[in-house]
Amino acid sequence: MSGPRRLAVYPGSFDPLHNGHVDIIDRCLPIFDDLLVAVLRNEEKQPLFSVEERVEILHQTLAGRARVRVESFSGLLVDFMDRVGAITIVRGLRALSDFDYEFQMALMNRRLAPRIETVFMMPKEEYSYVSSRLVKEVFMLGGTIDGLVPPNVVERLRGKVRA
Ligand code: PNS
Repeated sequence: MSGPRRLAVYPGSFDPLHNGHVDIIDRCLPIFDDLLVAVLRNEEKQPLFSVEERVEILHQTLAGRARVRVESFSGLLVDFMDRVGAITIVRGLRALSDFDYEFQMALMNRRLAPRIETVFMMPKEEYSYVSSRLVKEVFMLGGTIDGLVPPNVVERLRGKVRA
């Protein structure tokens, strides 16, 4: 089938990237032609990793996936979507606890830009409890996060502790 390539945007903080995110990215690849992972540049939040570090981690991890690209954005997501010419937002949905926040965001984005649709994808069960917040907390308190994040993220976290 020819026609314009279907581009989806997977936005988030990715502070840091974990295997649940990577699983969602891999689930997108059979569905969309191209995927843009969009890292929010949020001056209000105090992230552990800078936007540049988060983009670099994503680049390293996703290097073998030719149809995935990574960019940062600031401002409204729907404006970014217009700039890159995408109409589909992908969000991961883990448990009921994610639902309220995701539902509000999806409907607000629809109100702002009715042409944009949000698609929810469920990660593999073994990642259904994994979040960036918990990964950071467990690591900082000395627990193991092997298997929950890509190996380069463990390295980067070790670097933060040493710094
Ligand atoms: O990984 P996160 O922190 O849950 O991702 C949240 C994100 C980046 C998708 C959301 O905060 C966002 O889109 N921010 C951009 C600003 C915006 O468009 N706000 C209105 C959304 S309803």
